[in-house]
Amino acid sequence: MVRISARERFDGEFELPGDKSITHRAIMLNSGVDGEAVITNALMGEDCVSTCRCMRALGAKIDVDGNTLRVKGATAFRRGMELDCGNSGTTMRLLTGFVAGKKIDAKLYGDASLSARPMGRIAEPLSALGADVKTTDGHAPLFVAPAALHGAEISLKIASAQVKSALLLAGLSADGEVAVTEPVKSRDHTERMLKAMGADLQIDGNTATIRRSALHSLDVCVPSDISSAAYFMALGALKGKTLCKNVGINPTRTGILKAFERLGVKYSLCNTRISGGEATADILVEKSDMRAITLTAEDAPSMIDELPLVALLCAFADGESRIVGAQELRVKESDRIQTTTELIRNLGGDCEALPDGFVIRGKKTLAGGAVRSYLDHRIAMTGAVGLIASENGGEIDTPECCEISFPDFFEKLDVKLR
Ligand code: S3P
Repeated sequence: MVRISARERFDGEFELPGDKSITHRAIMLNSGVDGEAVITNALMGEDCVSTCRCMRALGAKIDVDGNTLRVKGATAFRRGMELDCGNSGTTMRLLTGFVAGKKIDAKLYGDASLSARPMGRIAEPLSALGADVKTTDGHAPLFVAPAALHGAEISLKIASAQVKSALLLAGLSADGEVAVTEPVKSRDHTERMLKAMGADLQIDGNTATIRRSALHSLDVCVPSDISSAAYFMALGALKGKTLCKNVGINPTRTGILKAFERLGVKYSLCNTRISGGEATADILVEKSDMRAITLTAEDAPSMIDELPLVALLCAFADGESRIVGAQELRVKESDRIQTTTELIRNLGGDCEALPDGFVIRGKKTLAGGAVRSYLDHRIAMTGAVGLIASENGGEIDTPECCEISFPDFFEKLDVKLR
C-alpha cells in the first residue's frame, strides 16, 4: 500500500524508461538470428525480463548491464522447453509465432492474469499457416509442436499488434507468402524492425506481407515509451508543466496526442529526430482546461494502453465524454473497462461502464480515495495520476505491480514506497 498526496502543482523534466514493445521485439528478434547485437535504453521491467528468460531458455545468450543488453542469437534452438511468460501477453503471443517459425516444440505458460487472457486469437490464425498450436480451452498453457508452414492470407477481426507480429514471425519461415490484414492499423514496431533486419516485407495500407527471409542482427537504441510518458504528460495537463524527453512518436502509438487535441490539452513537440527507424521527440505539456470528447473504434488501437488514463482525464474535463469500440480493454492485464470505472468512481468521479467503453461525466475535480489496482500496472499508474491531481489524495493497494512496465515510476513521482 502507498499513500499518495494531492499536489498543488506538478512540474518537471523526465527521462522515461525504454519502450516496452520495442524492447520485447529487439530481444526476441535478435535472439533468433546468428549474430550479436547491442540494445541500449532497453526497458528492464518484469515483462521484458520474461522475454529474456524465455529466449535464454531457447538458447540465446543475453548479458544485462543496466539498460544495455548484449544479445547473441541462438544457432540451434532447444526443444521441449517450458517457457515462463510471467504476466506478459506480448511475450507469450509473439513467442508462440517465433517458436512455430523455428519448428520446435515448446510449452508456454504464464501467471494467473495471463492464463485468463484469450489465446485462441493466436492459435487459430497460426493454424491457418499450418502451425500446430494447442491452447488449454482457448487459454495458456499453449503447446506448440513442429509443423511445416505454408503461405496464407489472413484477415484479422481485431486490430492486435501481438497477433499480427506472431503471424509475421512465423511467416519468416513459411513456404509461401503470409499476408496479414488488420481492420485498423496497430503498432508497427515488428514490421519496422523486421525490415531493418533484412526481411522481405511489404506494407500496403493495413496489410503486411512477408516472404521467407534470413535476418541479420540489429543494434537497437530504444526510444522512451510514450505509454509510460503518458502519465507524466497527463500530470502536466492537470497540474503544471512537464517535459518528457526522447519519447517514441511512432504514428501508430500517438493516439494520446490526438486525445489531447480533442480534450484541449496544450502540448508541443520539439527536438524531433529519427533513431533506428523510429521517430522520437521531447513532449512539453501544460496545464489546460479540458472539454469532453468522443473516441471510437478507429481511435482505440493507437492509444489502447492509454485509454484508462484518457478516461481519467475525461473525469477532470467539462462535460460528458464517450469512449466506445474499445472492447479489447476487457482482455488486458485486468478487465480495464471494469477496473477503470471502479477507479474513477472510487476517486469521486462519475463513470459508467459500457460493454465496449465508458461514459464519463466530467466534474473538473475529483475528491480522491482508495485505488484498487487488481495487480494491473496501468491501473495503478492511472490511479497515482488521479490521486496527485485530486483534492485529498489517497492510497493505492499494490504499487509494486508497476514493475511490469515502469520499475522506477514512484521514484520519478518522488513518492517513497516504504
Ligand atoms: C502490444 C500490443 C498491444 C498492447 C500491449 C503491447 C505489443 O496489445 O496492449 O501492451 O507490444 O505488441 P494487442 O496487440 O493485444 O492490442
